[in-house]
Amino acid sequence: MDRIVILTGAGVSAESGLGTFRDKDGLWTRYDLSEVATPEGYARNPRLVLDFYNARRANALDASPNAAHRALARLQEGFAGEVLLVTQNIDNLHERGGSREVVHMHGEITRALCASCGHRWDAPREMAPSDLCPSCTAPATRPDIVWFGEMPYHMERILPALSEADLFVAIGTSGEVYPAAGFVEISEEAGAETLEINLDPAPAPGRFDRMIAGKATEAVPAWVAELLGS
Ligand code: APR
Repeated sequence: MDRIVILTGAGVSAESGLGTFRDKDGLWTRYDLSEVATPEGYARNPRLVLDFYNARRANALDASPNAAHRALARLQEGFAGEVLLVTQNIDNLHERGGSREVVHMHGEITRALCASCGHRWDAPREMAPSDLCPSCTAPATRPDIVWFGEMPYHMERILPALSEADLFVAIGTSGEVYPAAGFVEISEEAGAETLEINLDPAPAPGRFDRMIAGKATEAVPAWVAELLGS
């Protein structure tokens, strides 16, 4: 086995205190995603959207990486072959857990984007509708997050890697949001082995060859130790 593609979701950061989306008390049970996570919602009420992400940015910056983040960094460091770590998460806990390369397909909460000219820069802790773009000076700054109805990032990198993978692993994701939810089929069609690690034993029965049920902070370090043999 030379090539592993790993996809992580909110479940990998849950034990760092960052809420998931669809679990009990998840973000989408408390907020209307059409208001805070769509370009239309942003156009209607940028203040509401920026405040939503300001709160999430504060949580992410105040949180600490956990044993699952650190174990995946250890795997990237110790595995003889290639490990591509793709995340749907917008927090930077993989990087702060030691991962040197992380592909953020849904964007990053620490980055800002100008909705007018497309310029990107490091986001301030608090963003406001009156903030001006440092490049074109338009008051059109938004978090550099992929909202519903928008194209995910880095697909030109992710899709070929899925087609060449020997092993595809999904960790802490409900498999409800496409295109990420379809990665298991793409890699399986290309002959890869597939593994799911999730707290909930059967979010996607039968879609994976193997399932490890458990908390990410316990199941991921154990799986990495098994793979690396130490
Ligand atoms: N350890 C392992 N898995 C966990 C843990 C944990 N401690 N806690 C929760 N989980 C699992 C849940 O069982 C669930 O399957 O994590 C998953 C979280 O699912 P979602 O809340 O749907 O999050 P995710 O799959 O990352 O969402 C995908 O949807 O809202 C959009 O853009 C957003 O990137 C996000 C995408």
